[in-house]
Amino acid sequence: MRVLSRFMAAATDAAQFPVPSLPEIAFLGRSNVGKSSVINSLVGTKMARTSSTPGRTRSINFFEIRWPGKPRPELIFADLPGYGYAKISREISREWPKFIEPYLNDRPTLGLCVVLVDANLPPQPSDRQLLDFLGSSDREFLLVATKSDRLSNNQLHNALRTLTQEHPAARLLAFSAKTGAGRDELWKHIRQAAQQMTTPETSSG
Ligand code: GTP
Ligand code: MG
Repeated sequence: MRVLSRFMAAATDAAQFPVPSLPEIAFLGRSNVGKSSVINSLVGTKMARTSSTPGRTRSINFFEIRWPGKPRPELIFADLPGYGYAKISREISREWPKFIEPYLNDRPTLGLCVVLVDANLPPQPSDRQLLDFLGSSDREFLLVATKSDRLSNNQLHNALRTLTQEHPAARLLAFSAKTGAGRDELWKHIRQAAQQMTTPETSSG
């Protein structure tokens, strides 16, 4: 499936976030883990900038997603800056409180946090920190092990088992932007999260 996507905004300050409207899916993870690549793989175009140098994405970049034949966009993808690399983390972590924290804490339309971890690395403390934060903030999240193409079946199996042990409560799937492995399953989770947000709820206010 190919979707239509459009760049909306780059925000380095909460005042620059687009007015909350459609269900939003955020892509989070360490620098270089493959956040922008996952987005490009999902939409089928090189819309988000990727780089072999960590720290490519410095703002929250918002993209509208529309299905062919549908008159209006139905989803927003948010590509976030990465964390966890010593060289850039000081600089970027100084910026977090200004826009990433408000985004994760307050964004009313944020329906799912896709947390990317590198399947080739042992569990990272910075990932645990983020997952603990999301768990305690009641945000819906999904763990995605990236770059699975770099591992043999057996290595991948072990990596997934280790991740499950480390994060027993998390839903987990393996993904490769290179081969497209896990793409359909990730889309399924995303559509499900969006649907849950648009299902009318009874409200007392
Ligand atoms: P920052 O914006 O710097 O935080 O990085 P990011 O998480 O957006 O990573 P990005 O998508 O820019 O990818 C980083 C590097 O990993 C690039 O060189 C990609 O080509 C590579 N990469 C991403 N996904 C995959 C994958 O599934 N398989 C392989 N082999 N390489 C990948
Ligand atoms: Mg990026």
